[in-house]
Amino acid sequence: MTVLRSVILGCGSYLPERCLTNEDLAKTVDTTDEWIVQRTGIRERHIAATGELTSDMAVKAARAALAAARLDPQAIDLIVLATSTPDNTFPASAVSVQAALGITQGAAFDLQAVCSGFVFALSTADGLLKAGGFKRALVIGSETFSRILDWTDRGTCVLFGDGAGAVVLEAQQQPGASTDRGLLTSHLRSDGRHKMKLYVDGGPSSTGTIGHLRMEGRAVFKHAVAMITDVITDAFRATGYTADDIDWFVPHQANKRIIDDSAHKLGIAPEKVVITVDRHGNTSAASIPLALDVAVKDGRIKRGDLVLLEAMGGGFTWGSALVRW
Ligand code: UT7
Repeated sequence: MTVLRSVILGCGSYLPERCLTNEDLAKTVDTTDEWIVQRTGIRERHIAATGELTSDMAVKAARAALAAARLDPQAIDLIVLATSTPDNTFPASAVSVQAALGITQGAAFDLQAVCSGFVFALSTADGLLKAGGFKRALVIGSETFSRILDWTDRGTCVLFGDGAGAVVLEAQQQPGASTDRGLLTSHLRSDGRHKMKLYVDGGPSSTGTIGHLRMEGRAVFKHAVAMITDVITDAFRATGYTADDIDWFVPHQANKRIIDDSAHKLGIAPEKVVITVDRHGNTSAASIPLALDVAVKDGRIKRGDLVLLEAMGGGFTWGSALVRW
């Protein structure tokens, strides 16, 4: 019996031109390259230009993903854009992407799950494709966190960067075997009791302002590894796969120490872990598709590979997805 699966046909990404190094930051806040590298693994991040919007970056990533999939924008009937930094409070930035790509069919909407946004968007698009109402989806993560940072707070401003990544998903009949291509399982979790550990202190219905990102870094760190490993264990349990079966681990890129600890706890070999946090910083919902694109372009991720994704972020939200490329 065949089953419908969401198969990734291509991916793409975009980074703004301006690169901000740790040394650059040390000129404006009380920090050092050594502290940032030791505690986070970050060396540099990209910052959107004045007037460069979340949707502008999303369009560039989407066009690259469509080119990789060898598809015309008209083949797309669903756009799910994961972002916590939309162009405007509404409409969804996804409709700006839709209009820029000249697509007038199907549906486009934003999804907000902070750093877990891409995994949540992938799972949401998968559900919609499997329900049969849509054929091909663009799943995008795009963020301009530079616009919500308090650039005087050294505890947060050194951590984040801007960028966008996208994948094209297509609903395909697969044999229903463990060797199927596509999204094999996804697991999403939230726990709002932790909402004040990582939040933005503004918004349309509270202050009427955009606000700034606030984080109890140590508290987030404390929860991150346990939450990540739990939800990956769920993925292994659902599929019967183990850490040894994974070809590539592409985690959310927040902190190299969190990534290393999670991989170690799960028994995933270090050489299978894709790291981009050193060059991108934490780009929230964009970090996983940006990392995927790096590893596809440099030839690491190949068709047929088993790729494990995970993310954890504000809310808290966390999730995992297992994909055969
Ligand atoms: O993507 C969403 C999820 N977010 C995350 O996963 C972030 C999770 N948290 C973290 O990655 C880490 O907690 C941080 C990188 C944010 C901080 O690392 P830490 O090892 O937990 O440091 P800390 O917050 O405990 O701070 C240690 C010291 C403090 O000084 P005192 O109190 O010991 O004198 C901070 O004031 O480091 C100080 N500090 C800095 N020093 C130099 C904090 N930020 C900086 C800085 N440069 N940029």
